[in-house]
Formats: sequence, structure tokens, C-alpha cells
Amino acid sequence: MGDTLGFSCKGVPDNKERAEMYKIAVIPGDGTGPEVVNEGLKVLEAAGKKFGFKYETKEFDFSGQRYLKTGKLVDDSDINELKKYSAIYLGAVGDPQVKPGIIETGVLLKLRFALDQYINLRPVKLYSPAFCPLKDKKAEDIDFVVVRENSEGLYKGMGEFKDKGTKDEVAIQISYNTRKGVERCIRYAFEYTRKRDKRKKLTLCGKTNVLTYAWDLWERTFNEVAKEYPDVTTDYAHVDATTMWFVKNPEWFDVIVTDNMFGDIITDLGAMVQGGMGIAAGGNINPDGVSMFEPIGGSAPKYTGKNVINPLAAICAAAMLLDNLGEAKADKAIEDAVIKIVSGKLNSLAAGKMGYSTTEIGDLVVKNL
Ligand code: IPM
Ligand code: MN
Repeated sequence: MGDTLGFSCKGVPDNKERAEMYKIAVIPGDGTGPEVVNEGLKVLEAAGKKFGFKYETKEFDFSGQRYLKTGKLVDDSDINELKKYSAIYLGAVGDPQVKPGIIETGVLLKLRFALDQYINLRPVKLYSPAFCPLKDKKAEDIDFVVVRENSEGLYKGMGEFKDKGTKDEVAIQISYNTRKGVERCIRYAFEYTRKRDKRKKLTLCGKTNVLTYAWDLWERTFNEVAKEYPDVTTDYAHVDATTMWFVKNPEWFDVIVTDNMFGDIITDLGAMVQGGMGIAAGGNINPDGVSMFEPIGGSAPKYTGKNVINPLAAICAAAMLLDNLGEAKADKAIEDAVIKIVSGKLNSLAAGKMGYSTTEIGDLVVKNL
């Protein structure tokens, strides 16, 4: 009952056998993307040796830089090629010279949508209280996961202008929610909560008091699916209150499920309470297809090429990727190494202030594996 999706905690099919050779597509991207990806690959190599898995990588140049040179974004033949891979490892895309929206929709959202990565999984875990901006919070107080719907909502790009450029202009942006899309996300969240097996509490984060169409569908679906998971405690919080509680009582949360836009917003706040963008990783997951893992911080152009950016978010994304492939031991070992370094060595998690360079941090993780 309930276990219809058949995947483990982070989107691994339950019966997945270890592949002879994983095929990992690497998209270094723009800005500091290539630098942090290098460190992630360094750690991946060390983990492969230690845990005995084999993989090959192929680099794909999808980036703002490439767009500026060639006008190319991600097209359908690229998508078909990527479908042959076990997973995708992404640094960051976005170049300040390109008008906002082009790379986001033409690369990142194109990949998420075309590969039907309908879950955006964002763990929020405090590795060291020293880097938490909240007063008096212990590491165990901040340990939750946001399950963000990743294929619909306001991100669908539906809408229109009326009388554009006139005084009577109207701009309409539609939040598009399908029963199927909402239900698969909610089911994933229930499965995930059960398999995570911590507090077994799933909070629906929405706005039922104002957005009375979308959140009516979400709430009804949530309550129906909940009946199949009597072992999971359910809760509801409005999105505005959720941001308040992230700061005031983050220990209340175990797993949170929400739509694409709210998930985008609350996970940036989540990243800050866990110590900042330097440590925040996420997965774009298609439980039946190819998933993509990325540090969530962006291309940070001003730090490019300086060897000062924090690669730990990208290293944690690589760990999530390994878990998704079924290499749970490697995932755990990398996370433990990261915890050790974060709590014992670093002055800060912010770029340029860590007390170590980008490459030194990669080396430290390898050493502590
Ligand atoms: C994220 C990013 C993206 C999003 C942008 C770059 C399109 O902010 O991954 O959260 O809004 O999803
Ligand atoms: Mn975001």
C-alpha cells in the first residue's frame, strides 16, 4: 500500500542493481560552476576508488558563455543524448551579459522540464552551529528536507500581456497545477518521509487562505494521499508562516512539500539557515529517469577564477548524485567528511573567508573520506 513509486529515500529505485559503469553527464556551466564541479569530480574519483564503483564522465557545454558565442541553448537532440546517462552533474549556469530569463528557461528549466525531473529535493541540514545565523540553534535543530514540485506552477511559463506598453496594460502569469502533477509530487513526499524515517512528519506548505484554486487542489490531494500513509504525521503551514518558523522554530520541520514557486523561495531561506549558499545542494529528480544534481547557489560571477568559492555545496550535490545511483555508503562517507571539515577547520562557509581555497577544500574532503 502506498509504495507505488518504488524508490528509496533519495529517488533510487528499490531494486536497482549496481551498474558496471555509471555514465555521468557533467555540465560545468558558467562563472564559478567549473571550479566547484572540479572539486566535486575530485571527490567522486576518490569515492569511486574507496567504494569500488566505476564511472565515466562526459562534459556538456551548456552555458551562458556558449549562448553568447553560438546562440545555442539546450535542444531536443541534447535532451535525447542526456537520456542515455545515469545522472547529470551541474555546476551553475548564468552569465551577467545575457538578459535574465534566457539561460534560465533555455538551459536549466529546459533540462528540468524535458527530462521530467518533477521533484526538486533540497535538504536543509546544519553541519555546524558556528555557521548558523540563528541564535542558540544546535545542529540537530536544523535537519529537514524540502520537496519542491519542479515541473508546474508559476514556472510553466503560461500567461499573456494585454495592451502591452499602454497605460491599461495587464500581465497575467498563470500557476498551472494538474491533479497528476500535484499527486505525483505529494506521493513522492510521503514516500520520502516514510523512508527517511526520522520524525515521520510531512508539512504541506501552501496558501489555502488566498490562492483558493491551486491550494484547494493541493490540500485535497494531500489529504487523500495521506490516508495511505497512516504512519506519517501530517501538518499544514501557510508559506508566509513557514518562513517565520524556519527562523523561529526550524526544529518543527521534518519534510515539507510545496509548489514550485514557494519551494524556490523557502529553499533560499533554508540555505541561509543551514549556513549559506556555500553548503546548499539540491537534486532535480525524475524517479523513473535521469536526475540532475547541483549546488543551488548560482554562478557567482564576481568570484570566478579566483579559487575562493566554496565547493562544498557542489561536493554535497555529488554525494546526493551517488546516493541516487544507489551508492549510499559513498554518499554517507562524503557527508561525514564534509561535516568534519565544516565543524573542525573552516573559518566561514562564505567565498573568500573560509581560510582555505576552493581546491584546498576539495583536497581536505578527499583526505577525510
Ligand atoms: C533555483 C534557481 C532557479 C529557479 C532559477 C535560476 C531559474 O533559483 O534552482 O532555485 O528559480 O528554480
Ligand atoms: Mn532559487
